[in-house]
Amino acid sequence: MKLTLTVIKADIGSVGGHVAPSLHLLETVKTYIGKRAPGLVLDHYISHTGDDIAILMTHTLGENDAQIHQLAWDAFRAGTDAARQEGLYGAGQDLLKDSFSGNVKGMGPAVAEMEIDERTSEPFLFFAADKTDPGAFNLPLYLAFADPMNTPGLILSPKMSLGYRFVIMDVSNTAGDRIIELNAPDDLYDIAALLRDPERFVVESIWSRATGEQAVAVATSRLHNIAGKYTGKDDPVMLVRVQMNFPATGEILAPYAIGHFVGGGMRGSHQVPIMPVALNTGISYFDGPPIVSCAGFCSHNGHLTEPVDNFAHPFWDRVRSHVADKAIEIRRQGFSGAAMLPMNELEYTGIAEKLAGLDKLFRIREAKAELQKV
Ligand code: F6R
Ligand code: MG
Ligand code: MG
Repeated sequence: MKLTLTVIKADIGSVGGHVAPSLHLLETVKTYIGKRAPGLVLDHYISHTGDDIAILMTHTLGENDAQIHQLAWDAFRAGTDAARQEGLYGAGQDLLKDSFSGNVKGMGPAVAEMEIDERTSEPFLFFAADKTDPGAFNLPLYLAFADPMNTPGLILSPKMSLGYRFVIMDVSNTAGDRIIELNAPDDLYDIAALLRDPERFVVESIWSRATGEQAVAVATSRLHNIAGKYTGKDDPVMLVRVQMNFPATGEILAPYAIGHFVGGGMRGSHQVPIMPVALNTGISYFDGPPIVSCAGFCSHNGHLTEPVDNFAHPFWDRVRSHVADKAIEIRRQGFSGAAMLPMNELEYTGIAEKLAGLDKLFRIREAKAELQKV
């Protein structure tokens, strides 16, 4: 059957800073969806990663469907009312517009969705990351879909050896979706040249070249491009189909053992390693570290199994302590050099204002006159 997987997420308020939603807030969103979903969605799953709540839905209405987007928007509105009543911090933070206009894209919430021909068994992964931006998925996706050093399936499986098509978006272009399509392995160096700049070039989707099927959908919205000012990091969600013509679950998960440095953390302005965590984990050290969770499902006629919590496995305990060591190490150099993001990615305006003030105080030394004074 034709099935649409849609995940829509938003930060609509949290407890004790930008840490995690309250139980009451989560319950409010769950109850709202539980009441309104029947007849519209086939199944759903609601979870949080850091301060973001994600609503995963299966349905047959296709991508960008107004009713599905409206359902999520209204659930987040109901949640925002509950968050305001409880006095949660940042209540309604990601709902940037007052009225719904048919599609939540460009209104604050992040969206990843794909319409698929559901396989007899449809295993897929739902990733959610907090305190970082969608470029955080660039490296793991490159390794999983284009590098046989990570993914033996690229050389072992005849179905995978034709490679994958990467659709990459230039997220700095605010006028419209500026995209490029490149094939792995043919265009490998071009793909790498773009993905090395994860704040600007972001993988939006990946497709099997053998069958034309979509494997990956990433939420690519940049909040500050929508709002015109900082409203929090973009905290992306991603859907990845696995097995058969696609990489195996383990090939998709393996790159997260690196704990690569991503843009985010405190005030969305630093380079901090990303930590794979269990579902429904909050935020702590240095408003981070940036975290990523992964729920695995099988769908059958749109009905979801319970999730497997892929990063809860004991293997990832060792990775987590390694990431914690990396985070502490880079934080030892504070504001200096590579620890902070470049000027155009700083999410607060304080430094720019300071530098503008100091700029007026700079002067060109007149070498001769100065020397005579000595
Ligand atoms: C980063 C983030 C936090 C806040 C920080 C200050 O994405 O959400 O690091 O930037 O806690 O928050 P405000 O400005 O709300 O006091
Ligand atoms: Mg968040
Ligand atoms: Mg937030």
